[in-house]
Amino acid sequence: MMGISWVFVVINVFLACDGFLLDDRTSPATTSGPLLSDQHYNFLINLIMNERQTRAKLEQHVVRLEQELLATQQGVTDIYHTNSTNNATLEQQTKNWNALHAKYINLENDNSLMRSNLNALRTDHTNLENYTKMLEREVTSLRHLKGVKDLQEVLNLRNETTILRKELKITNNSLNSVRNEAEARKQDFVALLNKAESTEHKLNMEIHNMSNRAAFTVCATENTYSDKSIIMFPTVQTRNSVGNSTLTDLANTGKFRCEKAGLYLISGFFMTDTKVYALLDLYKNEEIICKSYLSVTAGYSFQTSTFLNLQHLNTNDTIYVKPGTTMKVYGDTYSCISFLQLTN
Ligand SMILES: *[C@@H]1O[C@H](CO)[C@@H](O)[C@H](O)[C@H]1NC(C)=O
Ligand SMILES: *[C@@H]1O[C@H](CO)[C@@H](O)[C@H](O)[C@H]1NC(C)=O
Ligand SMILES: *[C@@H]1O[C@H](CO)[C@@H](O)[C@H](O)[C@H]1NC(C)=O
Ligand SMILES: *[C@@H]1O[C@H](CO)[C@@H](O)[C@H](O)[C@H]1NC(C)=O
Ligand SMILES: *[C@@H]1O[C@H](CO)[C@@H](O)[C@H](O)[C@H]1NC(C)=O
Ligand SMILES: *[C@@H]1O[C@H](CO)[C@@H](O)[C@H](O)[C@H]1NC(C)=O
Ligand SMILES: *[C@@H]1O[C@H](CO)[C@@H](O)[C@H](O)[C@H]1NC(C)=O
Ligand SMILES: *[C@@H]1O[C@H](CO)[C@@H](O)[C@H](O)[C@H]1NC(C)=O
Repeated sequence: MMGISWVFVVINVFLACDGFLLDDRTSPATTSGPLLSDQHYNFLINLIMNERQTRAKLEQHVVRLEQELLATQQGVTDIYHTNSTNNATLEQQTKNWNALHAKYINLENDNSLMRSNLNALRTDHTNLENYTKMLEREVTSLRHLKGVKDLQEVLNLRNETTILRKELKITNNSLNSVRNEAEARKQDFVALLNKAESTEHKLNMEIHNMSNRAAFTVCATENTYSDKSIIMFPTVQTRNSVGNSTLTDLANTGKFRCEKAGLYLISGFFMTDTKVYALLDLYKNEEIICKSYLSVTAGYSFQTSTFLNLQHLNTNDTIYVKPGTTMKVYGDTYSCISFLQLTN
């Protein structure tokens, strides 16, 4: 376009110049001669020829411009294709690069793993080196034992060491067995101690029980008792481990009510002066367990008769004495009854 407008301006300027020349040259012609002189004709032909040449040049110019435009379009298309090819290549390369990057990360991991393995190997190597050095030193010191005598001494020492080791083992074993024995004895001792303690406890209980066994003697009220009555014992002569209420009951009712179950020795003696004969029965609950006869025949005479009996008594069992006939029983220290608890 720029080229075309430039050509247009050139034509205009050219025409303007010609106009000026025409003006310059026609002014005398108008005054003299015909309207179109040869001079004028030639000038016009020249002008037309010039114009034709110029147009041809212009056409050439336009053709050249068209060709250039075509070439430019072709170039742009090429560049576009090249660009898109490059773009595709670039994309491919980006993919490749990503793959490469992933591989690089893997390699880096492998590398750090290998590095740590290498460090471990290095440590092992150092240890081995140390060990080798130690072995070398030992070999060197062994080399110093050149003589057979030295070797013999070493062998002897080894034999002695072996023997000592065996003996140490035996000693250790017997020490261990002694230790085990001591441990076992300790256990025995502890068991014995426990047993002794429990026995002591039992014994203490037994002693407590023994020292708390009932034992007492009570004496009768002097009276002529009928065969329906019970002999009363209000006077306590001796007492041990027997309740006040038991003694009170005995004094009031004539019956001993057993407080503590066990084996009891029951004994009594009774004096009478009832003539012909008299009969005394010892009762456990409702049952007669002892019978005693007294027989006074002469005028001023007396007789004492006794009971002696062993009874297992339960709690609340009752013991009492009843005459089988009407009889006189002397009191105070003439007629007494004793209870002795033997076991629990
Ligand atoms: C390729 O094309 C892109 C747009 O897709 C543009 O930005 C870039 O300048 C072009 N490169 C060349 C060399 O033409
Ligand atoms: C280049 O590639 C990008 C991404 O795929 C796409 O958006 C763009 O259009 C491509 N450009 C050309 C000129 O092909
Ligand atoms: C190796 O021995 C040297 C000297 O004997 C000691 O300093 C070092 O700690 C040892 N290294 C190992 C790994 O035992
Ligand atoms: C070491 O002891 C073994 C048997 O225990 C014996 O045969 C050997 O001769 C002994 N060696 C030396 C050097 O005393
Ligand atoms: C001695 O015996 C104990 C207990 O069995 C054991 O631990 C120890 O290693 C033994 N010592 C030797 C020198 O045999
Ligand atoms: C002590 O007496 C009570 C009852 O009186 C009895 O249960 C207990 O077994 C007795 N203990 C011993 C050690 O005799
Ligand atoms: C039981 O009687 C005795 C003698 O009479 C007396 O010393 C004691 O205090 C009485 N005990 C009780 C608990 O009444
Ligand atoms: C003994 O008699 C008393 C009073 O009657 C009663 O409280 C108690 O439970 C009786 N004991 C036995 C073992 O029967």
